Amino acid sequence: MSGPITLGHLSPPRSVPPHIPRPEYAETGEPAPRGRVSCVKSTPEAIERMRAAGRVAREVLEITLDAVKPGITTDALDAIAHEAAVARGAYPSPLNYRGFPKSICTSVNEVICHGIPDDRKLMRGDLVNCDITVYYQGMHGDCSETVFVGEPDAESLHLVRTTYDAMMAGIAVVKPGERFNSIGKTIARIAKDAGLGVVRAFAGHGIGELFHMPPSVAHHYERTLRLRMEPGMTFTIEPMLNLGGPDCHILADDWTAITADRRRSAQFEHTVLVTPTGVEILTGSARGPLFQTSQGY
Ligand code: MF3
Ligand code: CO
Ligand code: CO
Repeated sequence: MSGPITLGHLSPPRSVPPHIPRPEYAETGEPAPRGRVSCVKSTPEAIERMRAAGRVAREVLEITLDAVKPGITTDALDAIAHEAAVARGAYPSPLNYRGFPKSICTSVNEVICHGIPDDRKLMRGDLVNCDITVYYQGMHGDCSETVFVGEPDAESLHLVRTTYDAMMAGIAVVKPGERFNSIGKTIARIAKDAGLGVVRAFAGHGIGELFHMPPSVAHHYERTLRLRMEPGMTFTIEPMLNLGGPDCHILADDWTAITADRRRSAQFEHTVLVTPTGVEILTGSARGPLFQTSQGY
């Protein structure tokens, strides 16, 4: 088994060609204020652009996941994702978002989220989540999957399967008129039945012209989150489940979130659209999650 995650060394910054449209924070690192913005997309054209951003995010995610193997560094995964985004005319949204130094997040083992790609080589038995967000046609699309490096141990398999099932169950409750707290209620029930912790410090989010906008979509049951879903809303559902407790701790890079008890964490994420009758997954995969389809679990 691998030892605890420590901070590695970063490669020089990657650049995005000038012809690619950039989000508002690309130069300054400061996102636009998100206080009063709405995540409702009220024109067919805006919804079409969300579909396009979601499709590109998915393509880049699958290219990145296909490269996961023992011995590859998370920085090499960042390079692959960066090139795949740029080749499609998309800006990799994490790059310089609040100063984030790389183009994707790679979260290994006890890292909950926001791991920074570095020179650590993936090892057999690791879990890695690749979280890809792209800015394309003026919209962000955001998705992630956790995959195995080599053969998983039994409890890591249980963790990853349950996290995926919890995300899908959370998505399945989405429809007009439903309260946002139904999502977390559903996810928390599945986690509890499986003996897993639900991270509370990070949530899903409205998404569109801005990377993160209201509402904050809790993955635990948040009684006060009584807002109701409306057609045209686009937001993410991205539960992080832990083998141990829910608590987290941020490393000295001010980004990497690890579990307080150093036990493993997994995450999956989709961007979804509330339709007049239910939900459409904007980052949906033709092939299904890689840990099931190509890894065979
Ligand atoms: N993609 C992450 C999310 O799901 C956010 C990453 S922010 C970054 O919301 F700056 F770390 F990239
Ligand atoms: Co994400
Ligand atoms: Co997200």
